[in-house]
Amino acid sequence: MSYANVSEMLANSEFLAKVEDLAKSYPEPRTALLPALHLCQAELRHVPVEFQAFIAERLGMAPAHVRGVVTFYEMYSEKQLGRYLLQVCKTLPCMLAGSEILLEHLQAKLALKPGQTSGDGRFTLITVECIACCDGGPALMVNETLHRHVTPADADRILGELE
Ligand code: FES
Repeated sequence: MSYANVSEMLANSEFLAKVEDLAKSYPEPRTALLPALHLCQAELRHVPVEFQAFIAERLGMAPAHVRGVVTFYEMYSEKQLGRYLLQVCKTLPCMLAGSEILLEHLQAKLALKPGQTSGDGRFTLITVECIACCDGGPALMVNETLHRHVTPADADRILGELE
């Protein structure tokens, strides 16, 4: 299920039950922080401060600690991301294999710079450090799917297959 906004999500009993299940599935509730943030990121495509405050209170943590976690990991974002998150690896092995060419192609095709989201909310383009596919460069992640040895033509095909 996807929610229109964080208020709707935090008022939904099904969502709240999922958070409770997470909190109770660990001996120490605060251990549920990362999966709870994943849950929010998946539902809203970002982790707004309202959810950070909610989960901090539920897990008995300081909101500043939660925010520190959200801003530390690239997999969480405080800004609304597009429906498809395109992550281009910019670390040396992928660069040597052509990731700059891939990135330039995606930037031109989507009219986006790294860190930007398309006006229709479909795509967010970012660059990332090594995503553990160094022998498969240039590596491109599209949401949870890893693509290896991606040429500009491959990128066109991959994007063309998205809804
Ligand atoms: S250097 Fe790109 S995946 Fe490791």
